[in-house]
Amino acid sequence: MPTDLIIGNWKMHKGLVTEALALTEALISLPLFPEREVAIAPPFTVLFPVAERLRHGKSQIKLSAQNVHSEAQGAYTGEISATMLAHVGCSLVLVGHSERRILFSESDEFINRKLLAVIAAGMRAVLCVGETLQERERGQELQVVRGQIEKGLAGVSPIVARAGVVIAYEPIWAIGTGKTAFPRAAQEMHAFIKERLTVMYGLSVANAIRILYGGSVKPENIRELMEMPDINGVLVGGASLELESFRKIICY
Ligand code: 13P
Repeated sequence: MPTDLIIGNWKMHKGLVTEALALTEALISLPLFPEREVAIAPPFTVLFPVAERLRHGKSQIKLSAQNVHSEAQGAYTGEISATMLAHVGCSLVLVGHSERRILFSESDEFINRKLLAVIAAGMRAVLCVGETLQERERGQELQVVRGQIEKGLAGVSPIVARAGVVIAYEPIWAIGTGKTAFPRAAQEMHAFIKERLTVMYGLSVANAIRILYGGSVKPENIRELMEMPDINGVLVGGASLELESFRKIICY
């Protein structure tokens, strides 16, 4: 079984150096369980100071970016490449978060190119997938997630998938709404994703790819979620912004 992975996605919060470092400093002092990998995904502007602080504190906490551009360099005003992120100390990058798919019209093809760029730069890509409420109400959630997984992972070999890919299932209706998917419903989707990964890469690789759940993860529901056999970690938004709630999640 893979080690569990817990990622705090700060989104567009804690972007001032002082507040980012204050939270980082507090996180560094927490005891970590060796069987649980922990990462934080601060905004771009504070990645470097946060990376330095983690390094100086000899912390095991990993650094993740929230987004990346697919190209290595060029005339892409306002964009950040995978090499730049690796250079400041990121070892993980989220790709295809629903907020980017919806608010910035990112396509599966673009997300796939980002994922390949992240892996080529020596980092791990966290491919985020998940259906809208409408799609679920129409009974299309499996088909939607299957499409996102297959298109997002196009061109990824089994060896690369094993070392470089994490999946995060975040049903859009559960993000920031306080409505967590019932652990059993999340488990059903995770089992489906695992089955698709097994078809694509074989059981041994599918077993090694972590499938995280995201969407209103809180101290009150972390244990129940993590008890599900195919939930290998969580992607936490709001509850990762406060030390006490994130502590309760990583030390559940
Ligand atoms: P919340 O935990 O705030 O619902 O956000 C989930 C999310 O989008 C993490 O990437």
